[in-house]
Amino acid sequence: MTDLDAIRSDLLADIAGAADAAAIEAIRVRALGKQGQVTGLLKTLGGMTPDQRQAEGPRIHALREAVTAAIAERKAAIEAAALDGRLAAERLDMGLPVASAPQGSVHPVSQVMDELAEIFADLGFAVATGPEIEDDWHNFTALNIPETHPARAMHDTFYFDRTDDAGRKMLLRTHTSPVQIRTMASQKPPIRIIAPGRTYRSDSDATHTPMFHQVEGLVIDRGIHMGHLKWTLETFVKAYFERDDIVLRLRPSYFPFTEPSAEVDVGYTRDKSGRRVIGGAEPEGWMELLGSGMVHPPGIAACGLDPQEWQGFAFGCGIDRLAMLKYGMDDLRAFFDGDLRWLRHYGFAALDVPTLSGGVGA
Ligand code: DAH
Repeated sequence: MTDLDAIRSDLLADIAGAADAAAIEAIRVRALGKQGQVTGLLKTLGGMTPDQRQAEGPRIHALREAVTAAIAERKAAIEAAALDGRLAAERLDMGLPVASAPQGSVHPVSQVMDELAEIFADLGFAVATGPEIEDDWHNFTALNIPETHPARAMHDTFYFDRTDDAGRKMLLRTHTSPVQIRTMASQKPPIRIIAPGRTYRSDSDATHTPMFHQVEGLVIDRGIHMGHLKWTLETFVKAYFERDDIVLRLRPSYFPFTEPSAEVDVGYTRDKSGRRVIGGAEPEGWMELLGSGMVHPPGIAACGLDPQEWQGFAFGCGIDRLAMLKYGMDDLRAFFDGDLRWLRHYGFAALDVPTLSGGVGA
């Protein structure tokens, strides 16, 4: 009897004093393993008389249970302490500034695309996309651009050798306008979308690169007229350039897929050093900003919509040009050189908030 009590208190004391997982495991093996002390006691039950067994059995089993429970409890406590230790030692300070790691920046084109999506989202426009590898039907024919149009010439457009399954010539889209066609053919009006993306032309000088960016806008709804076009563009331009005193000038123009069509200019004034600044109630001159117009009714009909019921306006604008006008770069080619010094100068921090949500025109 005293033996069992002594064994129990020795083991429980050892368990309580075990400092780590290895120590507790050693005690477990010593007590409960195959050759263990408690296991040995359990084995003696087999050689006892029934009376002895009845007396000793419950006590030995109780000892085993007490030791098993004490080990489990101590083990859990050791593990919890180890975890606490790790949590304290490995704590990540999220507020720690990144002192030396190289930081990337957001390219001005991406920044402007974010700003456009934000500004137009507030006006109820969704963002639509289309393929950069287009066919000549979506890029030209469906937009009423005739076979003889110079934009279709080999030296203006990048064509692929192969045609698509319908026998259409494949090309790199020369503008985002084919997204108008794809959207009208696949969505039910009312439609309000902008389509920002890459476009390609066989061009290269200080203001033209073979790859550049445009944003297309398209609204199709009932009773849409030029007033909606003008208001939307004015609201957009004021939000984008972050000033309210901007004057727009709509100049009659021609695009095969809009009728009437208008080139939109934005008024500029000059600052003290003579630099042109977009805006000013009394413009000193005009800068061309984008092309626009009322969607040509036959184009609406070709997309399966009744032009008597549905009207719309559209516009197309160079994103790189928007960036240059707002942020002051003067050579478009630098946008795509991948020069880190340029990116560090003109790039944006990852968390810079696009214009509107920053509180424009309040
Ligand atoms: N796609 C024309 C271009 O690249 C721009 C344009 C003009 C788009 C008028 C339009 C528009 O949607 O209505 O020159």
